[in-house]
Amino acid sequence: MKAILIDAFVSNLSDLRPQNTKPPPRKSENDVEIRITHAALSHVDMLYAQGLHQNNRRHVVPPFILGTEFAGIDESGRRVFGGGLGSFAETIRVDSSSTRLVPNHWTNAEACAVGASGAVSYGALISVANLKAGETVLILGASGGLGVMAIQIAKAIGVKVIAVVGDEEKGEMVRGIGADEVVDYRREGWEERVMRLTEGEEGVDVVYDGVGAVESGIKCLKYRGRLVVVGFAGRGGDIEKVRANRVLLKSVAVYGYRFGEDGRRFPERTKQVWDGFMKMVDQGKIKPVIYKKKYEGLRDVSEALLDLKERRTWGRAIVTINGHGETEVAPKL
Ligand SMILES: NC(=O)c1ccc[n+]([C@@H]2O[C@H](COP(=O)([O-])OP(=O)(O)OC[C@H]3O[C@@H](n4cnc5c(N)ncnc54)[C@H](OP(=O)(O)O)[C@@H]3O)[C@@H](O)[C@H]2O)c1
Repeated sequence: MKAILIDAFVSNLSDLRPQNTKPPPRKSENDVEIRITHAALSHVDMLYAQGLHQNNRRHVVPPFILGTEFAGIDESGRRVFGGGLGSFAETIRVDSSSTRLVPNHWTNAEACAVGASGAVSYGALISVANLKAGETVLILGASGGLGVMAIQIAKAIGVKVIAVVGDEEKGEMVRGIGADEVVDYRREGWEERVMRLTEGEEGVDVVYDGVGAVESGIKCLKYRGRLVVVGFAGRGGDIEKVRANRVLLKSVAVYGYRFGEDGRRFPERTKQVWDGFMKMVDQGKIKPVIYKKKYEGLRDVSEALLDLKERRTWGRAIVTINGHGETEVAPKL
Protein backbone atom coordinates (compact mmCIF):
# COMPACT_ATOMS: atom_id res chain seq x y z
CA MET A 1 0.00 0.00 0.00
CA LYS A 2 1.03 3.65 -0.26
CA ALA A 3 1.85 5.64 2.89
CA ILE A 4 3.94 8.49 4.25
CA LEU A 5 6.64 6.39 5.83
CA ILE A 6 9.16 8.02 8.15
CA ASP A 7 12.28 5.88 7.88
CA ALA A 8 14.35 8.79 9.19
CA PHE A 9 13.14 12.08 10.72
CA VAL A 10 13.05 14.90 8.16
CA SER A 11 14.30 18.45 8.62
CA ASN A 12 12.26 19.74 5.69
CA LEU A 13 8.56 18.86 5.54
CA SER A 14 8.58 19.24 1.75
CA ASP A 15 10.72 16.05 1.61
CA LEU A 16 7.72 13.92 2.64
CA ARG A 17 6.48 11.74 -0.25
CA PRO A 18 4.15 8.74 -0.45
CA GLN A 19 5.94 5.45 -0.95
CA ASN A 20 5.08 1.78 -1.17
CA THR A 21 5.20 -0.12 2.10
CA LYS A 22 3.71 -3.26 3.66
CA PRO A 23 0.22 -2.98 5.20
CA PRO A 24 0.42 -2.91 9.01
CA PRO A 25 0.47 -6.40 10.62
CA ARG A 26 -2.27 -7.69 12.96
CA LYS A 27 -1.10 -7.23 16.57
CA SER A 28 -4.03 -8.51 18.62
CA GLU A 29 -7.44 -10.04 18.08
CA ASN A 30 -9.04 -6.70 18.93
CA ASP A 31 -7.37 -5.11 15.88
CA VAL A 32 -9.60 -3.79 13.12
CA GLU A 33 -8.43 -2.89 9.64
CA ILE A 34 -9.77 0.38 8.32
CA ARG A 35 -9.70 1.61 4.75
CA ILE A 36 -8.88 5.27 5.22
CA THR A 37 -11.01 7.84 3.41
CA HIS A 38 -9.67 10.96 5.17
CA ALA A 39 -6.81 11.90 7.46
CA ALA A 40 -6.45 15.06 9.54
CA LEU A 41 -3.29 17.14 9.92
CA SER A 42 -2.29 18.14 13.41
CA HIS A 43 0.50 19.90 15.25
CA VAL A 44 1.60 16.51 16.60
CA ASP A 45 2.14 15.15 13.03
CA MET A 46 4.35 18.11 12.21
CA LEU A 47 6.50 17.41 15.31
CA TYR A 48 6.54 13.62 14.73
CA ALA A 49 7.86 14.04 11.16
CA GLN A 50 10.78 16.07 12.48
CA GLY A 51 11.40 14.02 15.64
CA LEU A 52 10.61 17.02 17.85
CA HIS A 53 7.86 15.51 20.01
CA GLN A 54 8.53 14.08 23.50
CA ASN A 55 7.16 10.70 22.25
CA ASN A 56 9.94 10.56 19.62
CA ARG A 57 12.42 9.65 22.34
CA ARG A 58 10.79 6.27 23.04
CA HIS A 59 7.32 5.50 21.67
CA VAL A 60 7.42 6.89 18.12
CA VAL A 61 10.75 6.12 16.47
CA PRO A 62 11.51 5.36 12.79
CA PRO A 63 10.42 3.47 10.86
CA PHE A 64 6.76 4.46 11.36
CA ILE A 65 3.88 5.70 9.24
CA LEU A 66 3.00 9.33 9.93
CA GLY A 67 -0.51 10.59 10.79
CA THR A 68 -2.59 10.26 13.94
CA GLU A 69 -6.26 10.87 13.05
CA PHE A 70 -8.49 9.29 10.41
CA ALA A 71 -11.96 8.44 9.19
CA GLY A 72 -12.67 5.43 7.02
CA ILE A 73 -14.55 2.20 6.47
CA ASP A 74 -14.06 -0.79 8.77
CA GLU A 75 -14.13 -4.49 7.84
CA SER A 76 -17.92 -4.60 8.36
CA GLY A 77 -18.47 -1.67 6.00
CA ARG A 78 -19.27 0.80 8.78
CA ARG A 79 -18.13 4.42 8.67
CA VAL A 80 -15.73 4.97 11.58
CA PHE A 81 -13.35 7.63 12.83
CA GLY A 82 -10.61 7.59 15.41
CA GLY A 83 -7.00 7.99 16.37
CA GLY A 84 -3.91 5.84 15.96
CA LEU A 85 -0.42 6.21 14.56
CA GLY A 86 -0.23 5.58 10.80
CA SER A 87 -3.21 7.45 9.32
CA PHE A 88 -1.35 8.89 6.30
CA ALA A 89 -1.83 5.57 4.50
CA GLU A 90 -4.39 3.66 2.49
CA THR A 91 -5.19 1.38 5.44
CA ILE A 92 -4.54 1.35 9.17
CA ARG A 93 -4.92 -1.27 11.89
CA VAL A 94 -6.00 -0.06 15.32
CA ASP A 95 -7.50 -1.52 18.46
CA SER A 96 -11.27 -1.48 18.07
CA SER A 97 -11.55 0.70 21.21
CA SER A 98 -9.79 3.53 19.29
CA THR A 99 -12.62 3.93 16.79
CA ARG A 100 -16.13 5.31 16.97
CA LEU A 101 -19.00 5.21 14.51
CA VAL A 102 -19.37 8.35 12.43
CA PRO A 103 -22.57 10.10 13.57
CA ASN A 104 -25.24 9.93 10.85
CA HIS A 105 -25.37 13.69 10.43
CA TRP A 106 -21.60 13.94 9.71
CA THR A 107 -19.62 13.05 6.60
CA ASN A 108 -16.37 11.12 7.08
CA ALA A 109 -14.42 14.33 6.43
CA GLU A 110 -16.34 16.09 9.21
CA ALA A 111 -15.81 13.25 11.67
CA CYS A 112 -12.12 13.23 10.77
CA ALA A 113 -11.90 16.97 11.51
CA VAL A 114 -13.20 16.37 15.01
CA GLY A 115 -11.19 13.19 15.61
CA ALA A 116 -10.09 13.00 19.24
CA SER A 117 -9.86 16.81 19.59
CA GLY A 118 -13.38 17.10 20.96
CA ALA A 119 -12.72 14.50 23.64
CA VAL A 120 -9.35 16.09 24.53
CA SER A 121 -10.96 19.52 24.97
CA TYR A 122 -13.95 18.09 26.83
CA GLY A 123 -11.67 16.22 29.24
CA ALA A 124 -9.51 19.29 29.83
CA LEU A 125 -12.35 21.75 30.37
CA ILE A 126 -15.04 19.66 32.03
CA SER A 127 -13.26 16.80 33.82
CA VAL A 128 -10.03 18.54 34.80
CA ALA A 129 -10.75 22.30 35.07
CA ASN A 130 -14.35 21.67 36.21
CA LEU A 131 -15.72 24.49 34.04
CA LYS A 132 -19.30 25.41 34.95
CA ALA A 133 -22.23 27.34 33.48
CA GLY A 134 -22.02 31.08 34.14
CA GLU A 135 -18.21 31.14 34.23
CA THR A 136 -15.82 32.79 31.77
CA VAL A 137 -13.09 30.86 29.95
CA LEU A 138 -10.06 32.15 28.05
CA ILE A 139 -8.97 29.90 25.19
CA LEU A 140 -5.35 30.20 24.00
CA GLY A 141 -4.85 28.55 20.59
CA ALA A 142 -8.56 29.09 19.92
CA SER A 143 -8.39 28.76 16.13
CA GLY A 144 -6.59 25.39 16.14
CA GLY A 145 -8.06 21.89 16.00
CA LEU A 146 -8.38 21.61 19.79
CA GLY A 147 -9.35 25.26 20.26
CA VAL A 148 -12.40 25.19 17.97
CA MET A 149 -13.72 22.24 19.97
CA ALA A 150 -12.99 23.97 23.31
CA ILE A 151 -14.98 27.04 22.21
CA GLN A 152 -18.04 24.98 21.27
CA ILE A 153 -17.92 22.77 24.38
CA ALA A 154 -17.77 25.86 26.63
CA LYS A 155 -20.67 27.50 24.77
CA ALA A 156 -22.70 24.27 24.99
CA ILE A 157 -22.65 24.45 28.81
CA GLY A 158 -23.39 28.19 29.01
CA VAL A 159 -19.93 29.70 29.51
CA LYS A 160 -18.69 33.08 28.21
CA VAL A 161 -15.76 32.51 25.82
CA ILE A 162 -12.84 34.86 25.20
CA ALA A 163 -10.83 33.46 22.26
CA VAL A 164 -7.20 34.43 21.61
CA VAL A 165 -5.98 34.30 17.98
CA GLY A 166 -3.23 35.84 15.85
CA ASP A 167 -5.02 36.69 12.61
CA GLU A 168 -8.21 38.54 11.48
CA GLU A 169 -9.58 35.70 9.36
CA LYS A 170 -9.16 33.34 12.30
CA GLY A 171 -10.89 35.92 14.53
CA GLU A 172 -13.94 35.89 12.25
CA MET A 173 -13.94 32.11 12.15
CA VAL A 174 -13.94 31.73 15.96
CA ARG A 175 -16.75 34.30 16.27
CA GLY A 176 -18.70 32.24 13.75
CA ILE A 177 -18.56 29.18 16.03
CA GLY A 178 -19.62 31.05 19.15
CA ALA A 179 -16.70 32.98 20.71
CA ASP A 180 -18.17 35.99 22.56
CA GLU A 181 -14.97 38.05 22.46
CA VAL A 182 -11.82 37.80 20.36
CA VAL A 183 -8.42 39.10 21.40
CA ASP A 184 -5.38 39.29 19.10
CA TYR A 185 -2.19 38.20 20.88
CA ARG A 186 -0.05 40.12 18.36
CA ARG A 187 -1.16 43.34 20.11
CA GLU A 188 1.06 44.54 22.96
CA GLY A 189 -0.70 44.17 26.33
CA TRP A 190 -3.37 41.73 25.09
CA GLU A 191 -3.65 40.30 28.61
CA GLU A 192 -4.92 43.68 29.93
CA ARG A 193 -7.54 43.68 27.18
CA VAL A 194 -8.70 40.26 28.39
CA MET A 195 -8.99 41.60 31.95
CA ARG A 196 -11.12 44.54 30.72
CA LEU A 197 -13.52 42.06 29.12
CA THR A 198 -14.22 40.28 32.42
CA GLU A 199 -16.69 41.16 35.16
CA GLY A 200 -15.23 43.83 37.45
CA GLU A 201 -12.00 43.43 35.43
CA GLU A 202 -11.14 40.65 37.89
CA GLY A 203 -10.10 38.06 35.31
CA VAL A 204 -11.41 34.81 33.87
CA ASP A 205 -12.39 31.72 35.88
CA VAL A 206 -10.54 29.25 33.65
CA VAL A 207 -7.73 29.38 31.09
CA TYR A 208 -7.41 26.60 28.48
CA ASP A 209 -3.82 26.74 27.24
CA GLY A 210 -3.01 24.92 24.01
CA VAL A 211 -0.02 27.13 23.10
CA GLY A 212 2.23 27.12 26.18
CA ALA A 213 1.70 30.61 27.61
CA VAL A 214 1.13 29.84 31.27
CA GLU A 215 2.42 33.15 32.72
CA SER A 216 0.21 35.14 30.32
CA GLY A 217 -2.67 32.84 31.23
CA ILE A 218 -2.14 33.41 34.96
CA LYS A 219 -2.14 37.18 34.33
CA CYS A 220 -5.64 36.81 32.89
CA LEU A 221 -7.00 34.62 35.72
CA LYS A 222 -9.06 35.86 38.64
CA TYR A 223 -7.96 35.11 42.20
CA ARG A 224 -8.28 31.32 42.77
CA GLY A 225 -8.82 30.72 39.06
CA ARG A 226 -7.87 27.48 37.25
CA LEU A 227 -5.57 26.95 34.30
CA VAL A 228 -5.25 23.73 32.31
CA VAL A 229 -2.13 23.11 30.20
CA VAL A 230 -3.02 21.12 27.09
CA GLY A 231 -0.20 21.82 24.64
CA PHE A 232 2.69 23.98 23.49
CA ALA A 233 1.78 24.89 19.91
CA GLY A 234 3.29 28.36 20.24
CA ARG A 235 6.64 27.39 21.74
CA GLY A 236 8.55 25.82 18.85
CA GLY A 237 9.98 23.28 21.30
CA ASP A 238 11.25 25.92 23.77
CA ILE A 239 9.06 25.22 26.80
CA GLU A 240 8.30 28.13 29.13
CA LYS A 241 9.70 28.24 32.67
CA VAL A 242 6.98 29.53 34.98
CA ARG A 243 7.82 31.66 38.03
CA ALA A 244 6.22 29.93 41.00
CA ASN A 245 5.37 33.24 42.73
CA ARG A 246 2.88 33.92 39.87
CA VAL A 247 0.98 30.82 40.95
CA LEU A 248 1.04 31.83 44.61
CA LEU A 249 0.16 35.54 44.22
CA LYS A 250 -3.23 34.73 42.71
CA SER A 251 -3.67 31.39 44.52
CA VAL A 252 -4.38 29.73 41.19
CA ALA A 253 -4.57 26.01 40.38
CA VAL A 254 -2.51 24.83 37.39
CA TYR A 255 -3.43 21.44 35.93
CA GLY A 256 -2.01 19.39 33.09
CA TYR A 257 -4.05 17.04 30.92
CA ARG A 258 -2.52 14.33 28.75
CA PHE A 259 -5.39 12.60 27.00
CA GLY A 260 -3.52 9.51 25.71
CA GLU A 261 -1.78 8.75 29.00
CA ASP A 262 -5.00 9.34 30.95
CA GLY A 263 -6.67 6.80 28.67
CA ARG A 264 -3.95 4.20 29.31
CA ARG A 265 -4.12 4.69 33.10
CA PHE A 266 -7.83 5.36 33.57
CA PRO A 267 -9.75 3.93 30.58
CA GLU A 268 -13.07 4.24 32.40
CA ARG A 269 -12.52 7.97 32.96
CA THR A 270 -11.66 8.49 29.30
CA LYS A 271 -14.79 6.57 28.29
CA GLN A 272 -16.84 9.01 30.38
CA VAL A 273 -15.08 11.90 28.63
CA TRP A 274 -15.93 10.44 25.21
CA ASP A 275 -19.54 9.77 26.27
CA GLY A 276 -19.94 13.34 27.54
CA PHE A 277 -18.55 14.80 24.34
CA MET A 278 -20.59 12.51 22.05
CA LYS A 279 -23.75 13.51 23.91
CA MET A 280 -23.05 17.10 22.85
CA VAL A 281 -22.49 15.87 19.28
CA ASP A 282 -25.82 13.99 19.30
CA GLN A 283 -27.54 17.14 20.56
CA GLY A 284 -26.16 19.01 17.52
CA LYS A 285 -24.01 21.33 19.64
CA ILE A 286 -20.70 20.59 17.90
CA LYS A 287 -19.86 21.71 14.37
CA PRO A 288 -16.75 20.27 12.69
CA VAL A 289 -14.43 23.02 11.42
CA ILE A 290 -12.59 22.09 8.21
CA TYR A 291 -9.91 24.40 6.79
CA LYS A 292 -11.04 25.78 3.41
CA LYS A 293 -8.17 24.49 1.23
CA LYS A 294 -8.59 21.05 -0.39
CA TYR A 295 -5.77 18.50 -0.10
CA GLU A 296 -6.17 15.49 -2.38
CA GLY A 297 -4.21 12.29 -1.87
CA LEU A 298 -1.13 11.37 0.13
CA ARG A 299 1.05 13.50 -2.14
CA ASP A 300 -0.61 16.62 -0.60
CA VAL A 301 0.31 15.72 3.01
CA SER A 302 3.58 17.60 2.73
CA GLU A 303 1.93 20.80 1.45
CA ALA A 304 -0.74 20.58 4.16
CA LEU A 305 1.90 20.19 6.89
CA LEU A 306 3.78 23.20 5.51
CA ASP A 307 0.54 25.27 5.60
CA LEU A 308 0.05 24.16 9.21
CA LYS A 309 3.64 25.06 10.09
CA GLU A 310 3.23 28.53 8.54
CA ARG A 311 0.03 28.96 10.60
CA ARG A 312 -2.16 29.44 7.53
CA THR A 313 -4.64 26.74 8.54
CA TRP A 314 -7.46 26.93 11.10
CA GLY A 315 -9.68 24.21 12.53
CA ARG A 316 -8.43 20.98 10.98
CA ALA A 317 -6.87 20.64 7.54
CA ILE A 318 -8.11 17.39 5.99
CA VAL A 319 -6.49 15.24 3.32
CA THR A 320 -8.81 13.10 1.22
CA ILE A 321 -7.03 9.76 0.89
CA ASN A 322 -9.73 7.85 -0.98
CA GLY A 323 -12.46 10.15 -2.25
CA HIS A 324 -14.65 7.26 -3.43
CA GLY A 325 -14.38 5.21 -0.23
CA GLU A 326 -17.16 6.84 1.71
CA THR A 327 -19.92 6.85 -0.91
CA GLU A 328 -18.92 3.57 -2.51
CA VAL A 329 -19.19 1.49 0.67
CA ALA A 330 -21.52 3.15 3.10
CA PRO A 331 -24.00 5.80 2.01
CA LYS A 332 -24.61 8.67 4.42
CA LEU A 333 -27.96 7.94 6.12
N1 LIG B 1 -2.86 17.27 25.98
C1 LIG B 1 -3.19 16.42 25.04
O1 LIG B 1 -3.59 15.30 25.29
C2 LIG B 1 -3.04 16.85 23.60
C3 LIG B 1 -3.68 16.14 22.58
C4 LIG B 1 -3.53 16.59 21.26
C5 LIG B 1 -2.74 17.70 20.99
N2 LIG B 1 -2.10 18.34 22.02
C6 LIG B 1 -1.29 19.54 21.81
O2 LIG B 1 -2.14 20.67 21.86
C7 LIG B 1 -1.58 21.74 21.09
C8 LIG B 1 -2.64 22.26 20.13
O3 LIG B 1 -2.95 21.23 19.22
P1 LIG B 1 -3.82 21.54 17.93
O4 LIG B 1 -3.97 20.25 17.25
O5 LIG B 1 -5.01 22.32 18.31
O6 LIG B 1 -2.81 22.45 17.09
P2 LIG B 1 -3.12 23.37 15.84
O7 LIG B 1 -4.36 22.91 15.17
O8 LIG B 1 -1.86 23.47 15.07
O9 LIG B 1 -3.44 24.78 16.51
C9 LIG B 1 -2.49 25.46 17.25
C10 LIG B 1 -2.98 26.87 17.51
O10 LIG B 1 -1.96 27.56 18.21
C11 LIG B 1 -1.94 28.90 17.78
N3 LIG B 1 -0.58 29.43 17.95
C12 LIG B 1 0.51 29.03 17.31
N4 LIG B 1 1.58 29.74 17.74
C13 LIG B 1 1.12 30.59 18.68
C14 LIG B 1 1.75 31.57 19.49
N5 LIG B 1 3.05 31.82 19.40
N6 LIG B 1 1.00 32.24 20.39
C15 LIG B 1 -0.32 32.00 20.47
N7 LIG B 1 -0.99 31.10 19.70
C16 LIG B 1 -0.25 30.39 18.82
C17 LIG B 1 -2.38 28.89 16.32
O11 LIG B 1 -3.23 29.97 16.06
P3 LIG B 1 -2.72 31.35 15.48
O12 LIG B 1 -2.31 31.11 14.08
O13 LIG B 1 -3.92 32.21 15.67
O14 LIG B 1 -1.56 31.75 16.30
C18 LIG B 1 -3.24 27.63 16.25
O15 LIG B 1 -4.61 27.98 16.29
C19 LIG B 1 -0.35 21.15 20.39
O16 LIG B 1 0.80 21.53 21.13
C20 LIG B 1 -0.57 19.65 20.48
O17 LIG B 1 0.66 18.95 20.49
C21 LIG B 1 -2.26 17.94 23.30
